[in-house]
Amino acid sequence: MVDDMLDLLQNIRKEPVWRPLPEEHYKRLDEDLPYRPKDPGAVYDEFKNHILPYPTGNIHPRFWGWVMGSGTPMGALAEMLAAAMNSNVCLGEHAAMQVELQVLKWCKQLLDYPDSASGLLTSGASMANLTALLVALHHESGGRSRTQGLQQRSRPMVLYCSAESHGCIQRAAETMGLGASSVRKIPVGSQYRIRTDLLEQTIQTDLAGGFFPFCIVGNAGTVNTGAIDPLGELLTISRKYGLWFHIDGAFGALAKKTPEYEDDLRAIEQADSVAFDLHKWMYMPYEVGCVLVRDADAHRKVFEQAPHYLLRHERGVSAGEHSFGNYGVELSRGFKALKVWMSMKTHGVFAYLALIRQNIAQARYLATRVQQHPDLELLAPAGLNIVCFRYTRPGRTEDELRAMNREILMQLQEEGTATVSATLLQGRYALRIAISNHRTRMEDIDILVEAVARLGAEFFPV
Ligand SMILES: Cc1ncc(COP(=O)(O)O)c(C=O)c1O
Repeated sequence: MVDDMLDLLQNIRKEPVWRPLPEEHYKRLDEDLPYRPKDPGAVYDEFKNHILPYPTGNIHPRFWGWVMGSGTPMGALAEMLAAAMNSNVCLGEHAAMQVELQVLKWCKQLLDYPDSASGLLTSGASMANLTALLVALHHESGGRSRTQGLQQRSRPMVLYCSAESHGCIQRAAETMGLGASSVRKIPVGSQYRIRTDLLEQTIQTDLAGGFFPFCIVGNAGTVNTGAIDPLGELLTISRKYGLWFHIDGAFGALAKKTPEYEDDLRAIEQADSVAFDLHKWMYMPYEVGCVLVRDADAHRKVFEQAPHYLLRHERGVSAGEHSFGNYGVELSRGFKALKVWMSMKTHGVFAYLALIRQNIAQARYLATRVQQHPDLELLAPAGLNIVCFRYTRPGRTEDELRAMNREILMQLQEEGTATVSATLLQGRYALRIAISNHRTRMEDIDILVEAVARLGAEFFPV
């Protein structure tokens, strides 16, 4: 199995990025509960024949859909080791606890965040954002959200983010019982960054209207265009009004140490909390995200419990001061930290920073090629690793352009050339590329540009 998987990764460039699932595949994966044992070799063959050939595709050098990381061989091997150890990284005196604490310390150093901050590895940035917003809610409600919930509040709590924020922020508000209407989605300017003038106006209107503003969420890289909100200004506004300042840096936060973005991202150091993913722009296998909270005490107060069945002892495996269960909603947790620990040590963080810069350079190269091409149009400034563009023809309506580019996207995927995703920017359909892929080479960008131009010309002859 190990040899097969390493061969697969080594030769992945020769494979199509994606292939359609054949009709019989659905029947094969619709069996009754297997009561009787089967030879492991036969089961592995089934895996090889019916599952392995049909991946999402994000291990391929030309996968740039949504924001998906590419995963490394060391990450995969570390996952196997972690699964064999099967440690429950919740509490107690055992090595996995220390490994996660070590990894969290490194995460703080990656973002120049205070060492005294607390943190937690999560399944992803959605969970990391939810965790941080729970801390914000609890802290800003003076601790009452935990005892009384939100039922007895005379002033409804509201939070602020840009209209370009990821859907997980609204989902967090819904999950916390605040409701979607508690999320004030502030319009963005031409660069897709939050309009801070409108933000302040909205806060003032809410204060006058009897609402309880409690948090501002800034974007360090929006999902649509990679825009970075003016984080320094958001920090100042949050301090002026006494609000919690959280940053969703799902992928963008990792550009903190690059010369291209260090100034734009400096305010991360001052934020009350920050959420980001290691399975995106750190190329770790799914799943692993991270939340950091500046005030460790505030963090613990939201989740801390001391039930009788978790009694701590002076010695033995039930000793150990730290309990990750006191920093998040989950109790049992896997050993996600091992793949991070092994990968960072094996490759060295300089290698990651070089790869992040390489992806930024590739995005800029793509944007330039698009601008130089007569049939391609850049639809937003290329932010971080994201480029939004479309195939275009003079005189075509918006509807026709949308139909054209939808067709190009599906054809690119079906022929296995590249996977890109799409978004709507001011109502315009955009092919959207997010390069968080360490296998991508510059020549892959050329292949994409040529394929989009070829498909456009094929489908829509002049
Ligand atoms: C800006 C942003 N925030 C949050 C998320 C959610 O992250 P996850 O999919 O790891 O939950 C994403 C995912 O792409 C994102 O781009």
